[in-house]
Amino acid sequence: MAIINNLIKRVKPAAGATGAAWWPGEPPHAPSREEAEAFVRAQAFWYHRIYLGHGVYTMPGTAYHELVWQRFRPAFPADLRGASVLDVGSNAGFFSLQAKLLGAGRVLGIELIDMYLQQADTIKHWWGFDDIENRAGDAQAIDRLTEQFELVVFAGILYHLKNPLYVLEQVGRVCADAVLIETECIPADPRNVVVVRQGPRGQARPTPVRGGFMKLIEADELDGDGSNWWVPDAECVMGMLRIAGFTQFSTPVYQTPNRLVLAASKQRASRLDLSAIK
Ligand SMILES: C[S@@+](CC[C@H](N)C(=O)[O-])C[C@H]1O[C@@H](n2cnc3c(N)ncnc32)[C@H](O)[C@@H]1O
Repeated sequence: MAIINNLIKRVKPAAGATGAAWWPGEPPHAPSREEAEAFVRAQAFWYHRIYLGHGVYTMPGTAYHELVWQRFRPAFPADLRGASVLDVGSNAGFFSLQAKLLGAGRVLGIELIDMYLQQADTIKHWWGFDDIENRAGDAQAIDRLTEQFELVVFAGILYHLKNPLYVLEQVGRVCADAVLIETECIPADPRNVVVVRQGPRGQARPTPVRGGFMKLIEADELDGDGSNWWVPDAECVMGMLRIAGFTQFSTPVYQTPNRLVLAASKQRASRLDLSAIK
């Protein structure tokens, strides 16, 4: 539970990020108000703020993922009909639900923690999206997927991975078009510098380098959360995405000094408008 509690992000509500903006009305199979409230109360913890009908949300206020969706959403076409979406670290399914509400076809969520999977499975039914598949497992298991996805949502997950480059390469293998990334990051700071040998064979010299870093979190020194492994800077994230086969990039946006949002595609004519991420 310590790990779960440490996933809480304390954020100020942003103008326009009200929950109502993301939900088109009442869930078609909404439970009664009493049932929805009892469901919310029965859960040990909520990370996703999702509308359950009758004015009931899974949590009050504005949740961090709503601010992330505010960044991602303008990149999506009004009609996402037929698109397949992989949602990695899918939690209670906020991004999976939003993709379905835009018309996505196949949606697969991969999530490590059973409590979140149960939340997601209950809520997807109330929203009439029984065809969302919420699969238990580690993101590393993307290496066993044999299907292709047009879009991959990779929010709040990169820094939880022991082997981020490997998993991003696997994302590149299964992603036909674009990946949306949100991650903890090393802040852009002119003081950041590492001296490391650079140069061609025989001429490499210790050289101050100002980006392309990833910091190992050996234990729980980031937020007291032992599930954090690596914190990259923006150049490192983009470099890993290039190695994974992505060639087109949005401008990286710092949601906070230590949280980065960006999208990348393999296609010049991506289904996402990368320029809309600001
Ligand atoms: C910070 S939350 C982000 C949730 C959601 N993607 C979002 O951005 O709102 C991280 C989520 O990833 C899950 N997670 C952490 N490590 C994971 C792993 N190795 N494989 C799959 N899911 C993982 C957590 O249980 C949690 O639901």
